[in-house]
Amino acid sequence: MGWNSWNWFADKVTDADIRKAADLIVSTGMRDAGYTYVNIDDTWEGKRDANGVIQTNEKFPDMKALADYVHSKGLKIGIYSSPGPLTCAKYEGSYGHEEQDAKTYADWGIDYLKYDLCGLRVIMNQEHPNDPDAQAKMARDAYMKMHKAIVKAGRPMVYSLCQYGNDQVWQWGPEVGANLWRTTGDIRASYDSMILIGLSQAGLGKYAAPGHWNDPDMLEVGNGKLTHDENIAHMTMWAMLAAPLIAGNNLTEMNDDVRGILTNREVIAIDQDKLGKQAERVFAGDEIEIWSRPLSDGAVALSIMNVSGDRNTMRGLRLPLKEVGFPNGAHAHDVWTGKDLGMIKDTDVMTIPKHGTVMLKLTK
Ligand code: GLA
Repeated sequence: MGWNSWNWFADKVTDADIRKAADLIVSTGMRDAGYTYVNIDDTWEGKRDANGVIQTNEKFPDMKALADYVHSKGLKIGIYSSPGPLTCAKYEGSYGHEEQDAKTYADWGIDYLKYDLCGLRVIMNQEHPNDPDAQAKMARDAYMKMHKAIVKAGRPMVYSLCQYGNDQVWQWGPEVGANLWRTTGDIRASYDSMILIGLSQAGLGKYAAPGHWNDPDMLEVGNGKLTHDENIAHMTMWAMLAAPLIAGNNLTEMNDDVRGILTNREVIAIDQDKLGKQAERVFAGDEIEIWSRPLSDGAVALSIMNVSGDRNTMRGLRLPLKEVGFPNGAHAHDVWTGKDLGMIKDTDVMTIPKHGTVMLKLTK
């Protein structure tokens, strides 16, 4: 769990923005809710010095001092690079300087590296045109190289691959030392983008486990024109998916509604449940999606989402309680309202607003 600069600041992010974000993660209660990593995304990079050591650019005058500041708040700090010569935003990448860069990050006190394929694709195309297998191998080797460099540098770092879901990265992510890997292209702050990404995670549950996770990209909760119900849907879907919760909103203007959604303790507890089982789909209709995940205390989390553009009353739709282990009905706790609903039956009908979500914790 953490916060990353890209979704809100993109290439405008500065040292001052990161310090302010760290301050606000503490003062808004996000740190105490579990948000720990403050991650600087692309565009911090400067050129290399005569010895090849990566420098920061003028937006980040002193990375070590910044890391010290973030650490002084009881938080951790993340950084970004690419296995290619250039990053996505065309800043300096780590190609040919992997060990040197990992050592520099360790010296600065960095705790997390997001490593974004981007610039390496140019070289993959040059060296292996029209050979997707050879290209995929090049990507894997490049990730492995940086993994080894981090281990050699001797400072523990969370290792996040940004591979946009290509080459079935979930099958080999753990082998190259990854703790998380992007399973999709970039998220945008719209319901359509969010829900398309969320639903596309069906079938990937078996690849997630403690220590290495599918990453459907950073949260857009609080960004764009997402409504209250859409922010709830987004947070629910990511919690069901046991996804990394990396907030990406403008913390200086976060309202109480968004703060409440991002810091909801029960939802976070489901996301972070130690069994680490990612949700799978139980039912898909034109309007309703129902997903479930088992939890370590024997309960089952169930999300019922109205993905259509209209209000929905689920008339004629049976709640799949039997399918998730409750043939005789279940005791239901409504996670977002915090209310116990008592026993529910599969014939119970719920009314869910457009883009709304009901998230239940079911027990016998
Ligand atoms: C890619 C990544 C984004 C972000 C940008 C930065 O698009 O997928 O998450 O890191 O690069 O340039």
